[in-house]
Amino acid sequence: APTRPPAAGYDDSDRAAVHRVMRERRDIRNGFRPDPIPNDVLLRVLEAAHTAPSVGHSQPWDFVVIRSGETRERMHQLATGQRKAYAASLPKGRAKQFRELKIEAILDTPVNIVVTADPTRGGRHTLGRHTQPQMAPYSSALAVENLWLAARAEGLGVGWVSFFDERQMVTELGLPEHLEVVAYLCIGYVDEFPEEPELMQAGWAERRPLSWVVHEETYGRRALPGEDPHDLLRETLHGIRPLDAKALGEAWERQKRMTKPAGALGMLEIIAAQLCGLSRKCPPPIPEPAAVAIFAGDHGVHAQGVTPWPQEVTGQMVANFLGGGAVCNAFATQVGAEVCVVDVGVAAELPAAPGLLPRKVRAGTDDFTAGPAMSQEDVLKAIEAGIETARDLVAAGNKALLTGEMGIANTTASAALVSVYTGADPAEITGRGTGINDETHAHKVDVVRRALELHRPDPADPIGVLAAVGGLEHAALVGLILGGASLRTPVILDGVSTGAAALVAHAIAPEALAACIAGHRSAEPGHVAALTKLGLRPLVDLDLRLGEGTGALLALPLVQSAARAMHEVATFDTAGVTEKD
Ligand SMILES: Cc1cc2nc3c(=O)[nH]c(=O)nc-3n(C[C@H](O)[C@H](O)[C@H](O)COP(=O)(O)O)c2cc1C
Repeated sequence: APTRPPAAGYDDSDRAAVHRVMRERRDIRNGFRPDPIPNDVLLRVLEAAHTAPSVGHSQPWDFVVIRSGETRERMHQLATGQRKAYAASLPKGRAKQFRELKIEAILDTPVNIVVTADPTRGGRHTLGRHTQPQMAPYSSALAVENLWLAARAEGLGVGWVSFFDERQMVTELGLPEHLEVVAYLCIGYVDEFPEEPELMQAGWAERRPLSWVVHEETYGRRALPGEDPHDLLRETLHGIRPLDAKALGEAWERQKRMTKPAGALGMLEIIAAQLCGLSRKCPPPIPEPAAVAIFAGDHGVHAQGVTPWPQEVTGQMVANFLGGGAVCNAFATQVGAEVCVVDVGVAAELPAAPGLLPRKVRAGTDDFTAGPAMSQEDVLKAIEAGIETARDLVAAGNKALLTGEMGIANTTASAALVSVYTGADPAEITGRGTGINDETHAHKVDVVRRALELHRPDPADPIGVLAAVGGLEHAALVGLILGGASLRTPVILDGVSTGAAALVAHAIAPEALAACIAGHRSAEPGHVAALTKLGLRPLVDLDLRLGEGTGALLALPLVQSAARAMHEVATFDTAGVTEKD
């Protein structure tokens, strides 16, 4: 046993100072002052950077201090070019937000510092870099953090600019070709240090809670130190609450005073009130930017011949979504939403691509006419994938989630789920999906009937129901709905598969419906039955029967309009309009 006490930490005030500087460090782009930075101050900041840890103690960094207005002008031009390219790549809802953001202060700051990493420094046998070459730039990034904290303590603001092509920078700055550029920093005295990141203040992104990212022993057993590990579903259910009565009351009160006859916006007034109750704010946040999450999965029941489309089409359509060639892409572009594709169970291996979240639980379900579609563990994993998608999209600043799905044969699973939760006979709620003839339709009804007879799913056991006759995308959609509800973010529902998932989500947590808005009514009979059972009135009714989130996307501008009216329409008192007697 050790005879001496362990080495001491800091006393309370020193520890508080360390935490204070970390908490109060900010990335600054606005409010820089032109005042020069005294040499002794800049030296202290660079000394702090130079004490950073590094792989094999290789200290791979160099700091190029730039003051020349001419060099800064050239760097500003490069960043402006990259800014334009990035802006052009954004969905409209995001681009609008981005236009308001300043992303660099190259010309507003007296000093810029380029931090590089030399991947050859430390010789051939740098300890720790042999397996992970990226350890060299990581080490330089730690030097940046030290610099950033020391600068904050001096009252100096720092803004990191990454709107550069790295090789172009090396050439433009005349750096040795073998160097990597890790950071371009703008430094100067500032008017103030905002309390929150500027991107949070602008609504661009949210802070993720610590509890989302701490796992005990194995990934997925989330727990902060001292807590019992809990699973994501339980934590999510804990966060689901009914609409806020006070905000609801304010919403109806305000709508009565808006310059229009009471109730004249019909269903949109109900939506506006729901958005207020959900966000606990009146007027509510305008649901923009928005993202459609398209969950893709395959179905073992495909083997029963319930659709003329081959199973490969699921993966091929995912590629089409990612390539921008599907209807969902056209509609998303039109309404300014982001398309996020999540592979929760496509049979084919899908190559990595921007916009694809690889969350495959398994390569498709089993044929549920022969046994359960999947295990309960698989259901829970797919639900978690849906919850995590909701968390990621909301933390990334999305103010509305739209549901979408892709899975050849998934209307068969949807019909089974709808039948379980509405009690309707399979013949009444089994639709023609992608368009099947009478004979195939009769067969599809029979497949659903046989599956229900085989499993006799118990509606009181929603996880068991999904395991018996559901699909991986249905389970993930359940997760997205529950996740959205727990984050008090509106979820605009698409067609029959989402309708089926909403029935399951409702069985798990009835209050999740508070976040749900029925985007449209599809031509599938099961969808009508699901909406009726849930008491949801669809916004759009155009006989669509495509899925992919298309109906939800069309409804998005209606939901946004409902919220915007709450913000922008004058009230009788402010506009000086006389009310009716
Ligand atoms: C690696 C890295 C690159 C960054 N690049 C940029 C950038 O190009 N433009 C910008 O405005 N902010 C940039 N930032 C700043 C982040 O937006 C900022 O750190 C984040 O919003 C959190 O805010 P905070 O630093 O004030 O806590 C970058 C930050 C890091 C760590």
